[in-house]
Amino acid sequence: MTAALAQDLAAAPYTVEGLEEAWGRTAADALGRDDPEPALAELARRAPSAAGVLGRLLVLGDPVDGSAAAAALPRLGLDGAEALGLLRVEDGRAIPLVDVRPYALADESGVASWWIVSDQGEVALGGELPEEHVLGAGAASSTLAQVLVPTGDGVVLDLGTGSGVQALMAARTAGRVVATDVSARALRFAALNAELNGVHLDLREGSLYEPVAGERFDRIVTNPPFVITPRGADGVPAYTYRDGGFAGDGLVEAVVRGARDHLTDGGIAQLLGNWEVTGDQVAARDRVLGWADGLDVWVVQRDLLDPAQYAETWVRDGGAQPGTRRFRALVRAWLDDFAARGVTAVGAGYVTLRRPSGAPTLRRFEHLESPVGSGVGAAIAAGLAAHDRLAALDDARLAGQVLAVAPDVTEHRHYWPGDADPTVLELRQGTGFARTRRVDTVTAAVVGACDGELPVGRLVAAVAELLDADPGTTTAAVLPVVRELLVEGFLTFR
Ligand SMILES: C[S@@+](CC[C@H](N)C(=O)[O-])C[C@H]1O[C@@H](n2cnc3c(N)ncnc32)[C@H](O)[C@@H]1O
Repeated sequence: MTAALAQDLAAAPYTVEGLEEAWGRTAADALGRDDPEPALAELARRAPSAAGVLGRLLVLGDPVDGSAAAAALPRLGLDGAEALGLLRVEDGRAIPLVDVRPYALADESGVASWWIVSDQGEVALGGELPEEHVLGAGAASSTLAQVLVPTGDGVVLDLGTGSGVQALMAARTAGRVVATDVSARALRFAALNAELNGVHLDLREGSLYEPVAGERFDRIVTNPPFVITPRGADGVPAYTYRDGGFAGDGLVEAVVRGARDHLTDGGIAQLLGNWEVTGDQVAARDRVLGWADGLDVWVVQRDLLDPAQYAETWVRDGGAQPGTRRFRALVRAWLDDFAARGVTAVGAGYVTLRRPSGAPTLRRFEHLESPVGSGVGAAIAAGLAAHDRLAALDDARLAGQVLAVAPDVTEHRHYWPGDADPTVLELRQGTGFARTRRVDTVTAAVVGACDGELPVGRLVAAVAELLDADPGTTTAAVLPVVRELLVEGFLTFR
């Protein structure tokens, strides 16, 4: 039956492009904002197509005429669709029961597309989600997918697989993928998605690392249920998809702390997370880094929300509408919970952990809110490699290295009107983290001279001479910046 469904979806064609053709770009954009009306309006105006009928049923959650659904699923048929739990037929109408979406991705491992079957979202349900809701491929799934260092052909663990999105992605190159979830319902979706997309997954039920006790992985990938949720407050829903049942950010701490015992030497774990800020920023930073005891750790904090912003975001995510009494009661429960622990802000971002063969050498926490470019995963992999190389180089040996400016880097100069010299010099990256870094004249000149020909120490000395500066002092000031520029990817080793 699943094979027949795959054939029908392929024939439709039920792809990102096929759906966009069925209802147009504007409607696709509106759907991205959870507004289905433009898509429904377009479908009513246009000649019916298989992709349009399936999209109406399985994305918009709108019942369709049974004969139209049967025509769009000629191999599976309505009986097969009912048996798979996709829909039920009532009074000649096909009533959707799940969400099925095409999901496409292009990264270092190539271009791929899948169909993801999951529970229906708010748009289809027209109200709040049930607590056992199983997510499809959402914005957070894509964020994690974009920051993953290339998976390689080792053994991968997808912890909290949900409908299996990360596991399907990992399976493109991995030798074996183990995917776990505490929710049996989620694992049923993951099994269906694996079969539908012709992928083998080793699916296991259980909490956190329980299902993989004693096992190690080359990669751990997890978009865990990191949403901080008030415990014991009346009426606060405990959504399995986003709430691990811990107080505060305990779930994220448990995932980070547990990684060390489940990674091979050199193995990498990557996760999305939220963490509470109770003291100053330095204390908050040290607290998160401290969870990664015995591991190399690199935290990229992408956002810092105050308690009210955080509460509103997650109360709205569950489907409660701003302005209602329920919305206000839930926000209050979150605020009281944060106040009880003295939480003044919540950080959100991604964490990369690596099990070193010796003592850990990397402890990096950065706040980076600006939009990132393509290839963040590759930038993290390159940053780790640069860090390792630098760890073995003292300043004298670094000075002997030949470096080059990365091809996506541009220099930007800002002048006060009428001034001959720039007041601000910036280096900007076009890809990866797309960082902008302010540099001084000496560093800009050294970076500009890094053309893969001469050792960087000679370039620093030449720039110092040109600017009438002391070569020793200049070298001592510039080399630490050069180290940072190498980890950040502005400069590369030759
Ligand atoms: C945010 S969803 C991630 C789904 C999917 N991996 C993705 O990236 O879109 C989190 C998943 O973790 C699961 N989960 C919740 N508590 C868990 C626990 N204690 N141990 C393992 N998985 C858990 C939920 O059922 C849910 O499927």
